Amino acid sequence: MKFGFIGFGEVSYTLSKILLSYGFEVLTSTEGRSKKTKELVKSLDLIVLDSFEEVAQESDILISANSPQSALAVALKYGSLTQGIFLDFNNISPNTAKQIENYIGDDHFIDSSIMGRVSSEELHIYFSGRRAEEFVSNMRNFIRNNDAPSNVKVNIKVVSDEIGDVSKLKILRSSYTKGVSALLVETFETAEKLGLSGDLWEILSLTENMDFETSAKSRIDSSKKKSKRKYEELIEVLEFLDDVDKNRKSKIMAIATKEKFEKLKNRK
Ligand SMILES: NC(=O)c1ccc[n+]([C@@H]2O[C@H](COP(=O)([O-])OP(=O)(O)OC[C@H]3O[C@@H](n4cnc5c(N)ncnc54)[C@H](OP(=O)(O)O)[C@@H]3O)[C@@H](O)[C@H]2O)c1
Repeated sequence: MKFGFIGFGEVSYTLSKILLSYGFEVLTSTEGRSKKTKELVKSLDLIVLDSFEEVAQESDILISANSPQSALAVALKYGSLTQGIFLDFNNISPNTAKQIENYIGDDHFIDSSIMGRVSSEELHIYFSGRRAEEFVSNMRNFIRNNDAPSNVKVNIKVVSDEIGDVSKLKILRSSYTKGVSALLVETFETAEKLGLSGDLWEILSLTENMDFETSAKSRIDSSKKKSKRKYEELIEVLEFLDDVDKNRKSKIMAIATKEKFEKLKNRK
């Protein structure tokens, strides 16, 4: 089975390493991509084709992992070229997932999401859609019958046969975790201005949990480094929350989180 990637950053690199360890063929292209992406592609034993069109046509499973903002255009341009299954791992809204379904059809498109960070030692990947059960059961059979040297634990789960359900869960999770991150950034920026950050780390480690400082510092670091992408994801979050309830008061935390990430992004 051939897996193709449109976009080759942290997600595609991590998934490709796992797929290669199972013996799958992995295809991508570096057409029009940055030096950083080209180097990442070169670091693995991939089949590099001249264009993303060719990647789409050759793949049994085509994966889009680029950015929430380019996701729809990528899906419309390449998703329809694959004869196999199209998976979108960008943090897109349920609305965007529905638009992709309308264009490609639920015969080829499965709503899918990596819940949490891709670099973790344990991956949680969720699917929904008419062909999700069949796809996951094929993957499980393959994993069961093949010993992989990869030390990453991969958990795959089907939520329902409805395109959009996985996107809804992912977007709610994203709203929650980014809200917590934005609050952490703000709290510690204030604590630093007051010269009290050391004491605040100590107090929160006592009242939250002992590994609070390590996980909170990692959240702050990632919020600052990936502020642009997180800001784009918040746009999708708010689009979804607007569909559920137009009242501004129902989503003031998410609005504030978006503004916080906008500031972090513009500060770079
Ligand atoms: N990282 C995570 O833990 C995680 C977890 C769950 C979901 N996601 C989602 O997965 C997606 C990818 O995340 P990532 O962390 O892998 O991002 P990343 O490290 O920034 O990599 C993005 C890749 O996509 C390429 N790209 C951008 N626009 C493209 C286009 N129009 N056509 C083809 N390639 C394009 C970039 O190439 P250039 O270098 O040339 O720009 C780069 O290779 C995002 O939508 C993110 O929301 C990420």
